[in-house]
Amino acid sequence: MTFPDHDPTLPFSPAAIRAAATVIGAGGIVAVPTETVYGLAADATDANAVARIYAAKGRPSFNPLIVHVPNLAAACDLAMFDADALALAEAFWPGPLTLVRPIKAGSGIASLVTAGLDTVAIRVPRHRAMQALLAASGRPLAAPSANASGGISPTRAAHVRASLGAGVPVLDDGATEAGLESTIVAGRTILRPGPITAAMLASVLGSVEQGPQAPAIVTAPGQLASHYAPRKPLRLNAMAAEADEWLIGFGTVAGQDSLSADGDPVEAAARLFDALHRADASDYARLAVAPIPAEGIGEAINDRLRRAATR
Ligand code: TXA
Ligand code: MG
Repeated sequence: MTFPDHDPTLPFSPAAIRAAATVIGAGGIVAVPTETVYGLAADATDANAVARIYAAKGRPSFNPLIVHVPNLAAACDLAMFDADALALAEAFWPGPLTLVRPIKAGSGIASLVTAGLDTVAIRVPRHRAMQALLAASGRPLAAPSANASGGISPTRAAHVRASLGAGVPVLDDGATEAGLESTIVAGRTILRPGPITAAMLASVLGSVEQGPQAPAIVTAPGQLASHYAPRKPLRLNAMAAEADEWLIGFGTVAGQDSLSADGDPVEAAARLFDALHRADASDYARLAVAPIPAEGIGEAINDRLRRAATR
């Protein structure tokens, strides 16, 4: 079974899950329901696949994404859990709770998923379709809500189709239960309120605090205070390196490194944060980056570069 071209929607079934896992394994994206909202999933270890999520959503910026895993053991393979985090996981997983944890070295999670941060937002979903896709694909799945940037979060397959069009395969398993994105917690701080309430969290941790600048109320994505930014000055739209500059090339502009020698913006997005980390770690005092066309996902790349250049 494969997703039909004209209407790439399949109702939940074992064969549909296999079809979706095949898409994921080939580096593609699939919309799949969770108990909160429909997510747009890709292999979190495949940078190009993750870049396709941003491209499909038309996100003008790179917001770090939530990584979905089948169980706590899989979460502990990717990130570090202290006693509080373990207690929350045991109380509320599987379910609509996301924990922000320090990422483990060698986790394999693409830097585009975390937007270059050294923490990762991770959750174990309860929904049968997302659980089945995690099992069948055998991959950790990055998944933001499956709607175009700025749109309303989808709680039905038809919402996904209306928002993202016929280019995105959808696993249809009816309306989602919560209809509201998962609660996000870092340490004892609520970063985004959601179905797991402050009182529920406090019943496990004793006390919790509400984050003053919850990402949920930051309307322009990418404004998280913790976003990765290089330490060195960055010059944009560079056609050639000046003295003491590490140039990140693109297309015909060659440098010490290149976001995409072919001039492919999806590949450039996939490589962006790794390239910034490498440049920052180099012996050069200053950084420069070649011009990137501002169309499609290039808009998000340019947004990120502007932020990196103006700090
Ligand atoms: O219910 C949900 O959580 C849905 C379903 C599909 O699972 N997913 C979802 O993902 O809402 P997304 O990508 O739209 O939300 C991710 C949010 C980001 O906006 C950001 O605020 C926060 O999670 N986030 C991700 N990684 C983070 C990190 N390392 N530190 C702080 N916040 C992070
Ligand atoms: Mg969303």
